[in-house]
Amino acid sequence: MDPESEQQAAETVRQLRALATPEGAVALDRALALLDAGTDPVAALTRLRSEAGTDLAGPAWGIARQRQRARATFGPDAERMLFTSDALEQAGRPELAARRAARLLAGGADSVADLGCAAGTDTIALARAGARVLAVDVDPVARELTATNVEALGVADDVWVVAGDAVELVAAARGGEVAGCGAAVLDPARRAGGKRQLDPDRWSPPWSTVVELLAKVPTSVVKVAPGLDHDRAPAGIEAEWVSVGGFIVEALLWGPAVATTWRRATVVRGGEVHELTADADPGPATAGPVRSWLHEPDPAVIRSGLVSLAADELGATLVDPTIAYLSSDAAADSPWVRSYRVDEVLPFNLKKLRALLRSRGIGRVVVKKRGSAIEPETLARQLRTDARGTATVVVTRVAGAPTALVCDVSLPG
Ligand SMILES: C[S@@+](CC[C@H](N)C(=O)[O-])C[C@H]1O[C@@H](n2cnc3c(N)ncnc32)[C@H](O)[C@@H]1O
Repeated sequence: MDPESEQQAAETVRQLRALATPEGAVALDRALALLDAGTDPVAALTRLRSEAGTDLAGPAWGIARQRQRARATFGPDAERMLFTSDALEQAGRPELAARRAARLLAGGADSVADLGCAAGTDTIALARAGARVLAVDVDPVARELTATNVEALGVADDVWVVAGDAVELVAAARGGEVAGCGAAVLDPARRAGGKRQLDPDRWSPPWSTVVELLAKVPTSVVKVAPGLDHDRAPAGIEAEWVSVGGFIVEALLWGPAVATTWRRATVVRGGEVHELTADADPGPATAGPVRSWLHEPDPAVIRSGLVSLAADELGATLVDPTIAYLSSDAAADSPWVRSYRVDEVLPFNLKKLRALLRSRGIGRVVVKKRGSAIEPETLARQLRTDARGTATVVVTRVAGAPTALVCDVSLPG
């Protein structure tokens, strides 16, 4: 850390400590109440200053804003936790951290090193799952947040928060353990200066530490970017992609002692968890014509390279060898795909598409695309008329040719 960042971190730690005092907690509650009431920030800060003092007002307001944001992800826990905007940005979902912790500990490990604890999401999940946790971070603000949060949530007795560099700790790992722990969670920072770092060598800790940890500590799990190239995943580990509500949220690499398959797609839909696994590369799905149903595979199924398994299950084929849209004769009730009934298929041409929609009384469409340069919102606007019918228009390639599929047509009355 450069001297300026160090000074800034020391000031943030001082403010966090002030907010953890009884007076600080009152100021924080008051700030949150003002925020929840939608009070104008200038007026709210003036009131806070007069009620809580100038020293507490600013920090209470800043942290209350993060607490308000954290509610969506952390639920009732958010009311007791502290976050900075940076730590909240980097925090995973607690329900997925709990799932990860349960799986990591299922083999019998009782102590875990959380290498890069940030605000403590994984540390808390691990402690709640029954582990003793060594929460490590290079950043003093992260350590302060974790220490405060484990205390606030009643798991501090099982957590030790320490300063340390995960790169050095992993380099020193011996006998399947790191920092004296039989298991590890590593969640490298994949952002720097507000920007996403696409190159894993630029993560902190970098990719070399990820590989070293998976090789040296068999009971370990590493959170990686969902866009990670399959070629990067070392042999003998399991790679898992997780989606929630149709959006990819995380990707994990499981060390050899906890890996049970080659690739796993975990799809969380309506609170239910569905898992699709393959012990070896299933290869690509076969291609075929567009039939009565079009299926859009879930992003976790696509990223994990398991589209062909979903295709087999559905009796479906790809509409184009290079595009992840499937088609089948029968409807599917499957967590692996979102399905659309195909009503019309035509070569993509704006004039002809417009004429067809007009002739069918369709005035509003949702546009989806894959393998096409069109801009969905623009096309939806261009196709809009007063007609009351609705449809989903899918623009894609079918056997190499730009094609429009008009799906799920719904006409009033
Ligand atoms: C993505 S965050 C972890 C988020 C956490 N798992 C959660 O869900 O809340 C990464 C953390 O690793 C820390 N970090 C980065 N490089 C590190 C290193 N070499 N050693 C220890 N911690 C490091 C960062 O300070 C940051 O707090």
